[in-house]
Order: sequence, then C-alpha cells, then structure tokens
Amino acid sequence: MAILVTGGAGYIGSHVVQLLIEGGHEVVVFDNLYAGHRAAIHKAATFVQGDLMQPDDIDALFAAHQFDGIMHFASHIQVGESMTRPFKYLRDNVAGLLNLLQAATAHDVKRFILSSTAALFDDPARVPISEDEQLNPGSVYGETKYMAERLLRWMDEIYGLKYCALRYFNACGAHPDGHIGEDHDPETHLIPLTLKVALGQRDQISVFGDDYDTPDGTCIRDYVHVMDLAQAHILALEAIRDGQSRRYNLGSGRGFSVLEVIETCRAVTGHAIPAVMAERRAGDLPRLVADSTRIKSELGWSPQYDDLEAIVRTAWQWHSQHPDGYAD
Ligand SMILES: NC(=O)c1ccc[n+]([C@@H]2O[C@H](COP(=O)([O-])OP(=O)(O)OC[C@H]3O[C@@H](n4cnc5c(N)ncnc54)[C@H](O)[C@@H]3O)[C@@H](O)[C@H]2O)c1
Repeated sequence: MAILVTGGAGYIGSHVVQLLIEGGHEVVVFDNLYAGHRAAIHKAATFVQGDLMQPDDIDALFAAHQFDGIMHFASHIQVGESMTRPFKYLRDNVAGLLNLLQAATAHDVKRFILSSTAALFDDPARVPISEDEQLNPGSVYGETKYMAERLLRWMDEIYGLKYCALRYFNACGAHPDGHIGEDHDPETHLIPLTLKVALGQRDQISVFGDDYDTPDGTCIRDYVHVMDLAQAHILALEAIRDGQSRRYNLGSGRGFSVLEVIETCRAVTGHAIPAVMAERRAGDLPRLVADSTRIKSELGWSPQYDDLEAIVRTAWQWHSQHPDGYAD
C-alpha cells in the first residue's frame, strides 16, 4: 500500500516507517521537522517537508501522491506544556488534523491510523484500563486526542473513512540495532532522562513524589516498546480493510514504578545514577497500566517486550551510540 506518515521524522513515526518499508509498503513521510529529525527518516521513504497548518503544503502533497492509508503521528506531545500553552495544542493538534482530514476525504482515502494516548484516562475507575473505561482527558493535550477520536467518528459516518485509534501508554525503547531512537528536546520521558545521567549529561534524576499509594510510593506506568507499537500499526492497517473502525489501548500490561525503572537503568548501564526525591507533580496519577486484551484477541498483537531490562537495553543501545541523539 501507499502510506502517508505524518510526523514520520519523529520518535514513534520513524520506527513505524521502518516496519512499513520492511513490509514492502511505499511510504511518504510528511513532517515540518519542528521536533523531528531528517536523519531519522528511512532512506527508502519519500520525504516531503511541510506543515499541517499550511493548506498549500497539504494540497501539494496530495496533488503529487495518492494514498491508500494515512498514519498520523504529527502533533505536539507534552502534557505539561499543553497546560501553559493551550492554544498551541488546540490550534496545531486539532486544526492540523482537520486540514489533513479535509484533504484525505477529498481524495477518497479510506484508512486512517491515529496516535492516541493514555492521557484520555484521568482518574480511571479500573486499572488495568480497558477500552470500556470512561474517556476523561486530564489535560489540554489529552483533550486534543479526545477531539481527534471524535472527529474520526464523523469522518467514518459521513465519508466512510475507516480508522483505528491506538492509545499508547508510555512509549519507550529503540530499534534493537540502535540506528534510530528517542531524541526529544526538551526530553520529558523517564527512561531517556535517566539514561542521560548515565551518559554524564545530567547530574541526577528527580523522582516526583514517593508517597503515592503504590508498593514503593512512586508512580507506576506501563512502558510499551516502540517496536511493539510499530507492529500494532501494521496490524491495524490490515484490520480496518474489513470496513470496521476500532480503538485499542496499547501497553505491555505490566506496570513498573519510577524506582524500578531507575534501578533497571543502573543495572543495564553499570552507572550509580543518583536519584533525588522531589514534590509530586500536579495531575500525576499513582498507577496507569493498559489492558490490551482486546487488540491481542482481535488482531493477534503479541508484544515482544514485556521485560523492563530488555526495553532499557534497546534504549541504552541507542543513547550510548548516539549520546547527542541525531546531532551525532
Ligand atoms: N511518546 C509517547 O510516549 C506517546 C504516548 C502516547 C501518544 N503519543 C503520540 O504519538 C505521536 C508521536 O509521538 P512522538 O513521541 O513520536 O513525538 P515526536 O515529537 O517525536 O514526533 C512528532 C513529529 O510530528 C512532527 N510535527 C509536529 N507538528 C507538525 C505539523 N504541524 N506538521 C508536520 N509535522 C509536524 C514533528 O516534527 C515530529 O517529527 C504523537 O501524536 C503523540 O501525541 C506519544
């Protein structure tokens, strides 16, 4: 299939592009390089530099290419920033998607995969969190993904655009051969931040709150490997050919505490990695773990990485080979 990947120069998108190309698909990456990296784009993909907020860029993209499906990764991604710069998120994440959907429906594209998020679930009634949990975004970032899922329902109803919303929990790790990986600026994710201490780029790692109602008092999260996420995208693309839209929660199904992650990073890197306790951050939930039973039973998704040490090893492979990320 010919697949448009928006945000394909970013962390998760670049790993999905790798699998799409290995699977024999034709890939066009559309990215404004606001947060992405040219070096992350697979050489066999066609790269179009453009911005979803510029309708002319999108018109030119769709005039030059025909697509069987779209995988939409491009968005701003920081929960904290979305609360201080809400209009940046509402404008770019929502209006950018609208521009894309307008072109997609005008050109009769029938398959759409959305990068959605665990940030849809604030204060869940049950953990592990299944697709039946009430949607209750706890941030403007989460709200933009909620709106995206809602918009897609209308696109399906009106235009027959079949979609799959994949709600990732904490994406982590890197391609096992270490040639692509995570390079965000600023970095806000726990594993890369902790590994930066081992690289000597930070003095210590902060632990935000150690008095939560969890066994060691620190927050528990579900770390899902980026290659497993990539596999889920390929399965979802195939599955919606049957004409049914879907929504899935994607996690490894296991939760690890902040202290467990830091301890694993110490074991993998052999570095002492000093940790300091800090105040709780507003809005952090004690425990966020996905119930991914549905995608496993419906699509046969079988994540390969449920072992934290294996996950951290792939991340360390990338970071130790590229201490300055793609700048190397
Ligand atoms: N990283 C996670 O743990 C996580 C968890 C849940 C959901 N997600 C979602 O997954 C997607 C990818 O996340 P990521 O970590 O790879 O982020 P990323 O920042 O690495 O990648 C996003 C890419 O989109 C591009 N982009 C942003 N705005 C654009 C625009 N207006 N036009 C064209 N390109 C644009 C950026 O340049 C970047 O390459 C995002 O939609 C994010 O919300 C990520």
